[in-house]
Amino acid sequence: MLHMTTSAAVAARVERQPREAAPFVKWAGGKGRLLSQLRPLLPSGAEHMRHVEPFVGGGALFFSRRPRRALLTDINPALVATYLAIRDDVRAVIEALRGLADHHSKESYYQIRERYNESRRVSGAKRAAMFIYLNKTCFNGLHRVNRKGEFNVPVGSYKNPRILNEDALHAASHALQGAQLECTPFDALLEKAKPGDFVYFDPPYEPVSQTASFTSYARNGFSQDDQRRLCDVYKALDRRGCKLMLSNSDVPFIRSLYCNFNIDTVAAPRAINCNAKKRGKVTEVLVRNY
Ligand SMILES: C[S@@+](CC[C@H](N)C(=O)[O-])C[C@H]1O[C@@H](n2cnc3c(N)ncnc32)[C@H](O)[C@@H]1O
Repeated sequence: MLHMTTSAAVAARVERQPREAAPFVKWAGGKGRLLSQLRPLLPSGAEHMRHVEPFVGGGALFFSRRPRRALLTDINPALVATYLAIRDDVRAVIEALRGLADHHSKESYYQIRERYNESRRVSGAKRAAMFIYLNKTCFNGLHRVNRKGEFNVPVGSYKNPRILNEDALHAASHALQGAQLECTPFDALLEKAKPGDFVYFDPPYEPVSQTASFTSYARNGFSQDDQRRLCDVYKALDRRGCKLMLSNSDVPFIRSLYCNFNIDTVAAPRAINCNAKKRGKVTEVLVRNY
């Protein structure tokens, strides 16, 4: 058996880690294409603050910043469990994902989906690998569950999907080492946020029109009452001395909720929309308290 010297092992690990980290899942509402507009609007001194994201999703802003300390939360338990496995056991996730990727086909997609839905008690790394496999091969990268909490998205029609990207998973794991991860609703932040934290809120958006409604990210949709409760949390954390940034759609309801704060507009290309013809540019608001 071949043993690497310590310095060779360190060199191999460093070589494996590209400087850039990025989301390891496709996620509805992902902020990847907005980063160049969001980053200049971060508060000054953000690099010294704890980075808090209560709707972390794919975590595009978090991964682009790679802060030393972070609190990342989301209401989706399977997503948060996958983050934990990537942070704590990335090699095991990669090994399990390699096995799934090597045998990918339409038939195996449905077998894995069934196994995933039956296997709530499978080890964290194996389940995380199934979660990533399904995310990379399902229709449009959607995450949708039925009333029983079963993932029910059909297979996508990709010719040659990139299911396993080892370097990207190592980079994500590296970025997550200083992150606390929790599966909680956004209002749990009232207990957790501290003065001086930087908090980025990226909730399910208020629909621009009724037909554009796309609010069922997890099991529950996000109602106007949720938007109002979120605004109350925003105001409470403002009084506490946190630096706050929030994305939402540019509609009068959202503008009126946050009328006492600074509102900028950003142009957002929509990456996930079931109807390809509707993938155009829309405006979003960015609400800041600084
Ligand atoms: C717009 S996505 C976040 C996108 C993310 N910023 C990215 O770059 O991928 C919204 C997220 O909010 C989560 N979510 C929905 N309702 C929630 C709630 N009540 N509390 C916390 N998270 C919630 C969803 O699971 C989803 O991951």
